[in-house]
Amino acid sequence: MYRTKTCGELRVANVGANVTLAGWVQRVRRMGGMTFVDLRDRYGITQLVFNQDKDAILCDKANKLGREFVIQAVGIVGERSNKNVHIPTGDIEIIVSEMLVLNSAATPPFTIEDDTDGGDDLRMKFRYLDLRRQLVRANLELRHRMTAEVRNYLGGEGFIEVETPMLISSTPEGARDFVVPSRMNPGQFYALPQSPQTFKQLLMVSGFDRYFQIVKCFRDEDLRADRQPEFTQIDCEMSFVQQDDVLCMFEGMTKHLFSSLLNIEFSEPFPRMTWADAMKFYGCDKPDIRFGMRIAEVPPELVRGHGFAPFDGAEYVGGICVEGAAGYTRKQIDGLADFVKRPQIGAKGLIYARVEADGSVKSSVDKFYSADILLRIKDLFGARPGDLILILYGDDAMKTRKQLSELRLEMGGQLGLRDKNSFACLWVVDFPLLEWSEADGRYYAMHHPFTSPKPEDIHLLDSDPGAVSANAYDMVINGVEVGGGSIRIHDSDLQQKMFRMLGFSDDQALARFGFLTNAFKYGAPPHGGIAYGLDRFVSLFAGLDSIRDCIAFPKNTSGRDVMIDAPSAIDASQLEELHLSITAK
Ligand code: AMO
Repeated sequence: MYRTKTCGELRVANVGANVTLAGWVQRVRRMGGMTFVDLRDRYGITQLVFNQDKDAILCDKANKLGREFVIQAVGIVGERSNKNVHIPTGDIEIIVSEMLVLNSAATPPFTIEDDTDGGDDLRMKFRYLDLRRQLVRANLELRHRMTAEVRNYLGGEGFIEVETPMLISSTPEGARDFVVPSRMNPGQFYALPQSPQTFKQLLMVSGFDRYFQIVKCFRDEDLRADRQPEFTQIDCEMSFVQQDDVLCMFEGMTKHLFSSLLNIEFSEPFPRMTWADAMKFYGCDKPDIRFGMRIAEVPPELVRGHGFAPFDGAEYVGGICVEGAAGYTRKQIDGLADFVKRPQIGAKGLIYARVEADGSVKSSVDKFYSADILLRIKDLFGARPGDLILILYGDDAMKTRKQLSELRLEMGGQLGLRDKNSFACLWVVDFPLLEWSEADGRYYAMHHPFTSPKPEDIHLLDSDPGAVSANAYDMVINGVEVGGGSIRIHDSDLQQKMFRMLGFSDDQALARFGFLTNAFKYGAPPHGGIAYGLDRFVSLFAGLDSIRDCIAFPKNTSGRDVMIDAPSAIDASQLEELHLSITAK
């Protein structure tokens, strides 16, 4: 063994012990005749001391150490006179008697400290060095503890972990597939799974009534802070369940994770909100309910016909009441107007109304509306003295609500209402089954084609498909969609009908999903499930802004791994073997 103790475990109780440590040199400091070396490993940092007077040769050796050298040190644990209260080992130091350089190191391209001088690209190129930083390592440790607790909880509930294949054919989760050419089947391709959806359903047909898997999924979609092309799901499925059974089981898992990893207890059931209410009151299907500021609507007839053209032409007028923000300056409000008018948000303009201390209203549309109408608007928002009402308008209610959602989140951020250390969990339920695409002139499945319509809405499938609700649900925490799932169709005829509604001919459906509809003919139990995004879950728990920070080797926003330089071209011989040729663009 190269070491008897780690760099994070020695305390005053160990004073006098003879120990051997091994690790990386974080820093070397010379003070008078003494040399101090901070030695780091995964567990912490321990100070090593070398004394010129006692052992000049050893001390000279220590003075020659460079950053990130790998060394082994033998010595006696001593109590420090100058204690460091910032680290757990700060009361002790090692009075070194022997030291061996196990490996030298080139000067790292950035400092391996919490507050590093390395930019994003550099840190990703040398990710193995970045991972030595305590902050990044802590995220991976949290990730490990989360998967361990997931296995603990689900194992205790009788779930078994089953692996499903990575080389499959297309799964319809709504993104593009990553494909893999098959050498043995010229001209044919595997697709990497966007999720194990169809396999977990087949496992239900096989009788594995409680399945889970912590599994890589692959989606070729535009990347954002909470999206990676390869990410990890906690994928689960259960048989003989209704929606409520699934929600209860996974609410239990979520509470278990909060309790075991963050020491946070939720005694109340998580609130449940219908998709329709989420859209109406928050303008999005993943509301951040750490704060209120719900959207209120202004009936267009109240504000039409008073000479204010924007409201005259609007189909929808709605806004939010920002408590205590009447003091916002003109400049700040102009800033908000610029914010909502940005092309990504696309609002036409921002109307504001301040409620004065005496309850009267001062607004940007005073000259068009009587005090009486302004007071009625104030009442619609339940606004009180000191509040600021912000109103948007548009031709399309859904679009304007989405713009209000952005404004609401911005205000929540500006007012410090989105504290990373407070957590608000929510189930969004009753999603529509289908989503109409204007561009393609057809319906798409809102969740995926295997999601069951609500039994009471099945009769609407032919007459009014857009009005059919699904037994589909998302778990939302602090405005992040952490998980999503549904009760599935387990009837082969209904599944066939669903494929038809989604524009598949019977032949196409048979070719792509015949294996599933056939399986359903052999006794498929009622079943349903959910998948959590592990990366999103961990980054929420760790308070991260991007899921990249809890992934050991993530891709950048262009989908590249800059460390190994992937993706990259392949040899002509390899292309030939795969029966592929590249047409240069
Ligand atoms: P869905 O597509 O909603 O459902 O995905 C489930 C969860 O996976 C996470 N997620 C992602 N995380 C990081 N990067 C991505 N590109 C990414 N895409 C999705 C999200 C999301 O909530 N088979 C169904 C589940 C089911 O019905 O049981 C599915 O995959 O946190």
